[in-house]
Amino acid sequence: MLNLRKHFIFNSLRLVSRRLTSLNTGEKPLINFPIFFNSKKYFSTMESQENHKLCMIPGPVEFHEDVLLSMSTPAISHVSPSFIPIFGESIELLRKIFFTANGQPFVVSGSGTLGWDMVSSNLIEPGEDVLVVNTGYFGDSFADCLGTYGAKVTQVKADIGDRPALEEIHKALISKKFKAITITHVDTSTGVLSDVKAIADLVKRHSPETLVIVDGVCSVGSEEIRVDEWGIDIVLTASQKAIGVPPGLCILIASEKAMSVFIMNSYESRKGMYFATPPVQLIYALHTSLKQITSIPLEKRFQQHKEVSNWIKDSLEELGLKFVPKNREVSANGMTAVYYPEGIKATDLIPRVAEHGVVIAGGLHRKIASQYFRVGHMGISVTEPRRKHIEKTIEALRENLNKLGYKSKGAN
Ligand SMILES: Cc1ncc(COP(=O)(O)O)c(C=O)c1O
Repeated sequence: MLNLRKHFIFNSLRLVSRRLTSLNTGEKPLINFPIFFNSKKYFSTMESQENHKLCMIPGPVEFHEDVLLSMSTPAISHVSPSFIPIFGESIELLRKIFFTANGQPFVVSGSGTLGWDMVSSNLIEPGEDVLVVNTGYFGDSFADCLGTYGAKVTQVKADIGDRPALEEIHKALISKKFKAITITHVDTSTGVLSDVKAIADLVKRHSPETLVIVDGVCSVGSEEIRVDEWGIDIVLTASQKAIGVPPGLCILIASEKAMSVFIMNSYESRKGMYFATPPVQLIYALHTSLKQITSIPLEKRFQQHKEVSNWIKDSLEELGLKFVPKNREVSANGMTAVYYPEGIKATDLIPRVAEHGVVIAGGLHRKIASQYFRVGHMGISVTEPRRKHIEKTIEALRENLNKLGYKSKGAN
């Protein structure tokens, strides 16, 4: 019997190659790739992707060709016998990524923001107290979301570039009965890494009934996170960062304590069920990416992210640049937030680096947004060094800072 899916992927590969050919011949494109595939000016990440500017922002990240191709399916029912095992296995693979035996993964159409709503609407009753460990813009926004659903929010904050000390969190934690504590694992606005393990341990010892909720949008897949061992109740994340799948999926893991299991276990036991139409093609992409991610030990993946992060940070430090996080211990491994040197501003540097073929992001933290930029280094940009994304990014920064007259440390 014809394997429809393989057949279709094979055909879509042919379509991609015909589409590429059509660029040279002027023939009308056969399939519509997103706009970023349109310019021939920029270097390619791999032969099979059309030239495009490297997307080196802290998400969306560069996507693997196999992940992109796995979305090229014909229309397929979300309860089709060929789709159900893909969804089911994706749910199982998520357990591996999160190091959980019994945590319940949820995969729903949406983005990371939806995870905040899922937490706020499902776990917190109006009037209940929630402690927010805030390390930047995304802590502010999670707190706003909780407040919108009626939670009484207490925040523990630190100076920009730092994380609150454990003693302060401890003090706040025992000041009243909190239904939940939320931690932004990596605040994408500052690149500050929270010590989730230590905070969860604190909660276990001093307020064990408090739910530990982690915003892992900018950490899952690039930072170690162990749901069972560390005693986490919820991790919410999104597809477009270190999970390496286009935007559109909100992924959430709930411990047994946090939630009673519902609909997802139906797909996992390979039964289709309607609960809302799932984003079928994105789940194919998720399945492909999770297979890739789990094909090597996760510890190795985290180590790769750490090494590449140090490489980028060392290179920028050698140029004399300064970072938003106050030291390496509180710095994320999947992104870097860097202050502009004196006299250089976003509008000078970011467009020039983009002209060089590398897209980086501006600042986001409200108080210092115009003073710094952000570089993402997650997923295939890290795990597949042959693509040379990191070299190209460092080179684009170095060259354009030089062109702007910046004299790096040590240069005469
Ligand atoms: C730490 C963090 N939390 C939440 C979000 C919101 O996720 P999304 O943009 O996917 O809705 C983001 C987005 O970048 C994020 O970085």
